[in-house]
Amino acid sequence: MKYTIACVMVLFLAGSVSAQHKSEAALKAKINSIIKKMTLEEKIEMLHGNALFSSAGVPRLGIPELTCDDGPLGVREEIKRFDWASANWTTDSAMFLPNGSAIAATWNPVMAHQYGVVIGEEANARKKNVMLAPAFNICRMPLCGRTYEYYSEDPYLNSQLAVQSVKGIQSQHVAACIKHFAANNQELNRDSVNTIVDERALREIYLPAFKAAVEQGNAYIVMSAYNKLNGYWCSENDFLLNKVLKNEWGFKGVVMSDWAGTHHTVAAANNGLDIEMGSSGPYDQWYFAKPLLAAVKAGKVSVKTIDDKVSRILWLMYHTSMSAQHPKGSIATPEHAKIAYDIASESIVLLKNDNHLLPLKNVIKSIAVIGDNAVRTFALGGYGAGVKARYEVTALDGIKSRFGKTASISFAQGYRANYLASRTDEQNRGYDQPDQNLIDNAIALAKASDVAILCIGSNREYESEGHDRKSLELPFGEQALVNAVSAVNPNTVIVVMAGAPYDLNEIKKSNHTVVWSWFNGSEAGNALADVLKGIINPSGKLPFTFPVSLHDSPAFNMDTYPGKGLTADYKEGILVGYRWYDTKNIEPEFPFGYGLSYTDFSFNNFSADKSSYKKDETIRVKFTVKNIGSSYGAEVVQLYVSDPVCSVLRPEKELKGFKKVFLKPGEARTVEIQVKVADLAFYDESKKAWNAEAGEYILELGNSSRHIVQKVKIAVK
Ligand code: BGC
Repeated sequence: MKYTIACVMVLFLAGSVSAQHKSEAALKAKINSIIKKMTLEEKIEMLHGNALFSSAGVPRLGIPELTCDDGPLGVREEIKRFDWASANWTTDSAMFLPNGSAIAATWNPVMAHQYGVVIGEEANARKKNVMLAPAFNICRMPLCGRTYEYYSEDPYLNSQLAVQSVKGIQSQHVAACIKHFAANNQELNRDSVNTIVDERALREIYLPAFKAAVEQGNAYIVMSAYNKLNGYWCSENDFLLNKVLKNEWGFKGVVMSDWAGTHHTVAAANNGLDIEMGSSGPYDQWYFAKPLLAAVKAGKVSVKTIDDKVSRILWLMYHTSMSAQHPKGSIATPEHAKIAYDIASESIVLLKNDNHLLPLKNVIKSIAVIGDNAVRTFALGGYGAGVKARYEVTALDGIKSRFGKTASISFAQGYRANYLASRTDEQNRGYDQPDQNLIDNAIALAKASDVAILCIGSNREYESEGHDRKSLELPFGEQALVNAVSAVNPNTVIVVMAGAPYDLNEIKKSNHTVVWSWFNGSEAGNALADVLKGIINPSGKLPFTFPVSLHDSPAFNMDTYPGKGLTADYKEGILVGYRWYDTKNIEPEFPFGYGLSYTDFSFNNFSADKSSYKKDETIRVKFTVKNIGSSYGAEVVQLYVSDPVCSVLRPEKELKGFKKVFLKPGEARTVEIQVKVADLAFYDESKKAWNAEAGEYILELGNSSRHIVQKVKIAVK
């Protein structure tokens, strides 16, 4: 019986694969027949922007324009066709979704998928065919201004989330444009820096999430990055675009430039760029407009190359705007709000709770909410994509709604966030100074209250595209405020809202209760208040390491940031994030994967299904997780692998699997994680291939890169 079912399944799958091949072949034939009807001029019109966020179609053949909009935080408001000013629509306010590092902190690919579905549905409602999201450059350097948009320092976590957010967006027949390809890890000099990255680090650290998003997520568009990689602009990088992306990974979609990231006509056209976007000057003078027509006529770019680009665009259109199943979409619905809430509530990281002040007890009668971030919204600010949020619940609003019936709630601003991304350093001078009047008011309020909730951190002006932060320090004189408030009220909860690592050394030493929130979307305040109240048990884990000092971090330690002249040589190679701290034995402020809960978990019976594996086999590890505390909660169990004896340097450990497990008090569950032996390989530069060397490997189970609870040795033959 089992055998019959298996046979039927195999036949069914084979049938659906061949049906898929047939329909892809039919699509290809259809596309070829359309291309035959097009003039060279019409083809070239499709290869460059015709407005800020669109490229032309061919109306006479029924080919529509290709319309794009920015994520990643949500669908950006409508701007004018030819400039960045608001189009002043009244129907374009959208759901503001948690930022990239918040999504990553959920360690839950289901959340990334749901994020994608919301983005896709809202894009459809706004008639956008392409969402310029998700963005998942590796968080190499803690000061990078766009860390908040990106996911993680780890390629495996990055890949799992990237694949699911792409699948979510594209489930709505909207193209995900994954960005920025590749090694765009700093904002300073981003449009001129030449990043030097060895092939091993590229393959092991910087490319895996792009590869996964293409091969497993089937992403329709890739945005080339601004920077140069190993001497060539990413928008004309033959290695990156032709060799790796299109040939090795079999990418069928479109390479789109970042806005004004195209530099030449012939090199870009021949080396893999398909659409030029965001350049300046008259549209018909762009690199991929009249100059491209001239290059084709001069024989420098072949018609075959042009046809390939057009064919890719039509292919993506048949899967999106020209797809028969194209849904109408919806915007800022209650369902979208629920997803924004779920992501936010799973993203919040409990960093310290020494005295079990959290969750706040019902006996609390007065709460002082202190800090500019308690009343600040994060949907907009600084440079880069923002969202005209339909609504945004601030921390103060959330706390009032969850505690207002049983406690009196008062607010003091505490500090002045006097910093704008558009100002010069000179104009921003003094932004880091405390304001004694505001501090005095905060002290008075904190003294008179049972509990003080201190909302500090950064904001969307301070963390912004186009800038890197200058230091790890908390801005706006916040440390002075923290010291003053916690001196008068021992029941002080520090809530940090930010998207990247900060220096929390002093806070860690002297404060007992620390919660990390993010730019957490429309429902941020509700999610935070529910965590403070214990309605939600925090389950977020840090997606990147917080270093004790900047000097400890690899890019600074190796003196490779921001680079010498305009060259940033990634000398740390594969030792990025915890791979560096763990291998070099540098104690972090908070490690990768770290986060507490209101309950406790135990891990037992960690075992692998065999003791020795062949290279084409899969390792199946099992373990039991038990909730040994008294509240419902979730633990993210992390599986690291180390290869102690290897012909090349390997990191102390590498994440190879994880599972977020939700458990009732007392409940235990046996969990299985599978890892292909092939995925234990390193990229062997001498062989230009992946190499899983025979020998001993250690499987390590834990709940952060620094908290390993059980180990099992296996051998690879
Ligand atoms: C950013 C992209 C963005 C584009 C369009 C660029 O400056 O790097 O991420 O999609 O602008 O707004």
